[in-house]
Amino acid sequence: MKIAVIGTGYVGLVTGTCFSETGNNVTCVDIDKNKIKKLSSGEITIYEPGLEKLFIRNQKEGRLHFTNSLEDGIKDAKVIFLALPTPPDGDGNADLQYVLDVSKNIGLLLTTDDYKVIIDKSTVPVGTAEKVSKAITENAKTKNTLDIDHTFDVVSNPEFLREGVAVEDFMKPDRVIIGTSSEKAKKVVGDLYAPFVRQGNPIIYMDVRSAELTKYAANSFLATKISFMNEIAQLCERMGADVDMVRKGIGSDERIGRRFLFPGVGYGGSCFPKDVKALVQSSREINYDFKILNAVMHVNEAQKLHLIPKIKAYFKNDLKDKKIAFWGLAFKPNTDDIREAPALDIITALLKEGAVISGFDPEAMNNVKELIGDKISYVQNQYDALTDADALVIATEWSEFRTPDFNRMMDSMKNKVIFDGRNLFDLAQMEECGFHYESVGRKSIVKKK
Ligand SMILES: NC(=O)c1ccc[n+]([C@@H]2O[C@H](COP(=O)([O-])OP(=O)(O)OC[C@H]3O[C@@H](n4cnc5c(N)ncnc54)[C@H](O)[C@@H]3O)[C@@H](O)[C@H]2O)c1
Repeated sequence: MKIAVIGTGYVGLVTGTCFSETGNNVTCVDIDKNKIKKLSSGEITIYEPGLEKLFIRNQKEGRLHFTNSLEDGIKDAKVIFLALPTPPDGDGNADLQYVLDVSKNIGLLLTTDDYKVIIDKSTVPVGTAEKVSKAITENAKTKNTLDIDHTFDVVSNPEFLREGVAVEDFMKPDRVIIGTSSEKAKKVVGDLYAPFVRQGNPIIYMDVRSAELTKYAANSFLATKISFMNEIAQLCERMGADVDMVRKGIGSDERIGRRFLFPGVGYGGSCFPKDVKALVQSSREINYDFKILNAVMHVNEAQKLHLIPKIKAYFKNDLKDKKIAFWGLAFKPNTDDIREAPALDIITALLKEGAVISGFDPEAMNNVKELIGDKISYVQNQYDALTDADALVIATEWSEFRTPDFNRMMDSMKNKVIFDGRNLFDLAQMEECGFHYESVGRKSIVKKK
């Protein structure tokens, strides 16, 4: 099948590449000229495990193309995916300008002689498919394409991939949601996804509004789980309990499940923060106060700075010129994405106190450099960050941070002090090594200065 993917970011590039992997002929479109230039010349623009191999193979085999031209991209395409940004607007709502602008332009380009399915893959509020449909129809009618209503359908097909394991999630999704009332569109989109659900994971067909809400409900529920555990961690610190024990204790209950119960320095990324905010805002617009989600957001904002009072207390409120090593800048491991990364909030707070930061992240340093430049220094490996450090802060749970060479760390650091926002290390081991160690929801290992 000939497919166009409009928007070639994290979702668009994974979507386009994975559909080309199952034999489709895919053209990815983006307005970013530099991005398309790189992709066209075989240079991948994001870090996502496993993606580069598929990207190179399918491009070589002529099934994966890139262009800046919407017209060229959608020409002859039976299916058009919209994988465009939906960032928060001033009120916290999802800003639909990118989705609707592209829809208008698609309307201007559509003809009545071939049927197309336009698929919203962006995370969009309930009612967006109707707006997309209207934008297409109105613009098509400006050039007298009067029968246009019958030549396209707009489908909601929210994306659930997780950055860091996006290829695996896309190739073997837990479920595929297809929201449409059109039998014709159902068949086209169902056929497209058939190779991805051969192991029996379901394609769930539903009405378009339910599909749109499903995505927000999923992300908001997961964010709620995280904020809930972060509050339990707060209690643990105050009550002398250990959050790891509590986590294991509740996680073995099948109704609760083991996943998403890890406390830390809050959720970040391009999805949870904006999607929770957008659901709260769209609830407000229909006069519904989504109380739980308001609390989820507040807890998360506070949790991002959970380590700051601990760090300040340790240094007796004097962080001026203290050298802080920083491990992890991405919002989570296995990605270079730093959107809403808690690390950035922690860094801002430490810089405000006069600290000097030496940061390391296996993939995200270029993006941080682009954002904050030389406000911090960057080093090429995790141990270089530790040279003469007064403390280490861990903000992302990259695997390579989990079992470091503690002796080497001890030798490099001026003060043997760790503030661990991801609970990577065993308390007994920290005690044995002789570190001062503070984490989230667990006992502090206190070493006198
Ligand atoms: N990143 C994720 O993990 C994830 C997961 C599920 C759903 N989503 C949703 O998918 C959507 C896209 O997210 P993303 O992370 O891929 O965003 P992104 O910012 O990485 O990519 C969006 C791309 O769209 C391009 N673009 C903007 N305007 C355009 C236009 N007029 N024509 C063509 N291209 C244009 C941008 O240049 C950019 O490359 C969002 O709604 C997001 O909420 C994201």
